[in-house]
Amino acid sequence: MCGIVGYIGPRNTLGILLNGLSTLEYRGYDSAGVSFIQDGRLELIKKKGYVKELREAVAQAGFTLDDRHTNRISAGIGHTRWATHGAPSDENSHPHMSMNGKLCVVHNGIIENYAELRRFLKKKGYVFASETDTEVAAQLIEYYYGLNDNKDINAAVRRALKDIVGSYALCVLCVDEPDRLICAKKDNPIVLGIGKGENFIASDVTAMIEYTKDVVFLEDNWILTMTKDSVEITDVYGDPVEYKVEAVVWDADSVQKGGYAHFMMKEMHEEPKIFEATVEPRIKDGDIYLEHFPVDEEYMKGIHNINIIACGTAFHAGCVGKYLIEKLCRIPVVCTVASEFIYSDPIIDEHTLTLVISQSGETLDTRNAMKKAKELGSGTLAIVNVIGSTIAREADNVLYTAAGPEISVASTKAYVAQLGCLYLIALKFAHVLGKLDKEKYEYYQNELLQIPDKLEQILRKQTDIQRFASTHFNVESTFFIGRGLDYFLSMETSLKLKEISYIHSEAYAGGELKHGTIALIEDGTLVVCPITQDDLVSKMESNIKEVATRGATVLAIVPERFRDIKFSCDVRFTIPDCDELMAPILGVLPCQIFAYYMAVYKGCDVDKPRNLAKSVTVE
Ligand code: M6R
Repeated sequence: MCGIVGYIGPRNTLGILLNGLSTLEYRGYDSAGVSFIQDGRLELIKKKGYVKELREAVAQAGFTLDDRHTNRISAGIGHTRWATHGAPSDENSHPHMSMNGKLCVVHNGIIENYAELRRFLKKKGYVFASETDTEVAAQLIEYYYGLNDNKDINAAVRRALKDIVGSYALCVLCVDEPDRLICAKKDNPIVLGIGKGENFIASDVTAMIEYTKDVVFLEDNWILTMTKDSVEITDVYGDPVEYKVEAVVWDADSVQKGGYAHFMMKEMHEEPKIFEATVEPRIKDGDIYLEHFPVDEEYMKGIHNINIIACGTAFHAGCVGKYLIEKLCRIPVVCTVASEFIYSDPIIDEHTLTLVISQSGETLDTRNAMKKAKELGSGTLAIVNVIGSTIAREADNVLYTAAGPEISVASTKAYVAQLGCLYLIALKFAHVLGKLDKEKYEYYQNELLQIPDKLEQILRKQTDIQRFASTHFNVESTFFIGRGLDYFLSMETSLKLKEISYIHSEAYAGGELKHGTIALIEDGTLVVCPITQDDLVSKMESNIKEVATRGATVLAIVPERFRDIKFSCDVRFTIPDCDELMAPILGVLPCQIFAYYMAVYKGCDVDKPRNLAKSVTVE
């Protein structure tokens, strides 16, 4: 969702801000803006639309983005906005300037009591230029700044925060203190990047890894004051807090397209590498190691049930995890969409382990669900991609997926890495519980280690899928049908198709078709059937026949060992053989490629689909 960048230092500030905003585009937004202090003047440029349009506006206003020019800007902030309060418009874009022009504010999150604060400020004579909740913060800080004898912007921010109810990552630039930036955080991520004679802030590290790898993930209720040479972090009372500088392991290339037309394509091509990076280091001498989450028999015997919470793609990974853990460990598992979990009355106590799955580590629904699980006494293990993210920090334990930055809104490689972690967890738990003997345990480890090569083989045949998409992208409706593990695979790939191609798409359990949905099958309906489980072949062939006789075009995705089986499909795509338990990891890739090409042929903006944000930090 919204993105923040801020910079103080000798480089061309506008260049840093606009490049940072471009990097954060993937989070999803509808308007963008920058504010900066040049020669002692507070400047503000903001626009509805993309960063490209903001760049043009900056150039038209006569400011240079060229690094070779001397930087006359003492400090600057920038923002990409994903509208919540007030439609996308120039006025509602951030930054917001206070009425007397003293300061500019960018904000991620929601100020829940903004209406009340707005009434208060109006009585004090403040006039509002936008419909946003953020503008209230700008006016309120200015109001307290005016009352403050020492004219200390840090003190004014801390005072205003006492009145503000809600969530925020807030960054403030004040014309009277042109060499300082103030940031505050509660329930929204903000990262400090420490350089030499320069400092950065951003919503995530991708916006700064080109310049520095030394970062501090701010905690809730911390206030940061930075100049180009200094960093001071306090609590809301102004008392210094201890903070840790961490080194980012991601490299700058990982946020570039690297020759691919889209990040999504690049990220699918990274799947072999990231699966290996997630799985291989955790397998040693025939055993699986889950880093800081040591599991022994006593611990496992104390776990009576497992609870999985996640949203979207991560939820679909969780469904596979439920299947695996129940099958291998014989422990009851409930997998719930995080946004529904918080309204349920789950059976959870200190004998429950909750697995929390999130690529971004910032999804608010997932965070809220994790909080509830903890309150009920459950231990938590998070499977997270973004290092230092909120869920990673708030969970009792974390297992990182080694997917690197995922820029495309449609999650692909992170899903595959999440599966990698879930297989490791299920196998380890099963072995510790004595449900999986050494021989079978090592057999499955070996199967996992062979997955990267097999993913490579699928990528080499991607043109087969491309060809199919090139002649079917005009369909109005697509159904994904599968049974068992293939049903979860269908759920995930149906989501992928709808989110990037806008084609109506549904996933159905093969057996459910005849209970209603088959009424929707007609001439020209496209049906995709992953069939990877041996004992489900004949049932799935019956499903294919049922839809084919009603006019559907059927694409089947099957392993090589089914080569001699006749299916009534129109086209079949073959994936390499593997143990059928591992098939979801291979089966998803051709379906992701299919969704990708359907969207490309339809002319959709693959990496930035309409209405979607990469990291969903609102309920
Ligand atoms: O960052 P998270 O994994 O918590 O995000 C969860 C969902 O918002 C995410 O998977 C979403 O469904 C993706 N756009 C799917 O491609």
